[in-house]
Amino acid sequence: MLVVTDSYSLAVIPGSNAYNLARKIAGKLNAPLLDVHRKTFPDGENYIRIDYEKITVSPDYNIVVNTLYPRQNDSFIETLLLLNAAYPEASKATIAVIPYIAYSRQDKLFLRGESISLEVILSCLRSAGADILITVDVHNPIILKRYFKGISKNILISDLLVKASLKYLDNPLVLAPDKGALNRARYAALKLGLEFDYLVKQRDRITGEVSLAPKELSIRERDIVIIDDIISTGGTIALAAKKCLENGARKVVVAATHSLLVGNALEKIRKAGVNKLITTNSIPIEETDFIEVIDLCDVIINELKRVIHG
Ligand code: R5P
Repeated sequence: MLVVTDSYSLAVIPGSNAYNLARKIAGKLNAPLLDVHRKTFPDGENYIRIDYEKITVSPDYNIVVNTLYPRQNDSFIETLLLLNAAYPEASKATIAVIPYIAYSRQDKLFLRGESISLEVILSCLRSAGADILITVDVHNPIILKRYFKGISKNILISDLLVKASLKYLDNPLVLAPDKGALNRARYAALKLGLEFDYLVKQRDRITGEVSLAPKELSIRERDIVIIDDIISTGGTIALAAKKCLENGARKVVVAATHSLLVGNALEKIRKAGVNKLITTNSIPIEETDFIEVIDLCDVIINELKRVIHG
């Protein structure tokens, strides 16, 4: 039986990297979570089949939920296969919910002869069948609009991350580790009535030594929340935290949307003196005494309702 939610019928299709998130979204929308049959052929190619037998008529909206880390290449192919299998079954639209989009940092040509990886990812998602793409805190939202030729929505989350840090910090300074993350810091700080700044990297032309200092404000005796989109190797955050503490900051908490935490990233961040990491489940992650995880389910559902109801 097809469950009808707020006058539209929906079906949720889980990708392997986001089964728990998809299950929660389906549960809260009172929509069926469809089974996906998977197999790998002897030569390594993958096969998927969405089990539409569970529902008798095609849904208005198919919602494919997956995230592109870990195993970004496999998970990308799986997402394309799911979208391609889903779109003929939707009478109104197929929605791709992909909280973390891999390859998002290669969003322009830095050197001649490179590929614009993000353009490839976004155009493939669209041609596989995604009419609407919902993501979270993509590295560069302007580029998302440029390369996804359907409806795209980027959920801003830095305010929720910083809000969660307030219980650990006293009147914190919201700090971006570089100019690229400044919009995230500004957005959160303005929403929460806090001060914000970003770190500027400078290299001594004689000694070659790199220094990192806030552009405008002093961090001495301040509690700091460093905000960024991605933690990959942890290098950026560890350096920023270390410099803050060396320059007299009292306490540093890190708020980052996508925690890839490659290799010993976590250890690096802890060693740099960070008190807490606040992140989201855009990528599957376990909560610990050091890591607090913000669940994206509700913000994604709100966005889904907005795109469905216009
Ligand atoms: C860079 O532009 C991003 O916003 C992150 O700061 C960066 O990807 C973090 O990488 P890592 O953790 O390896 O320093």
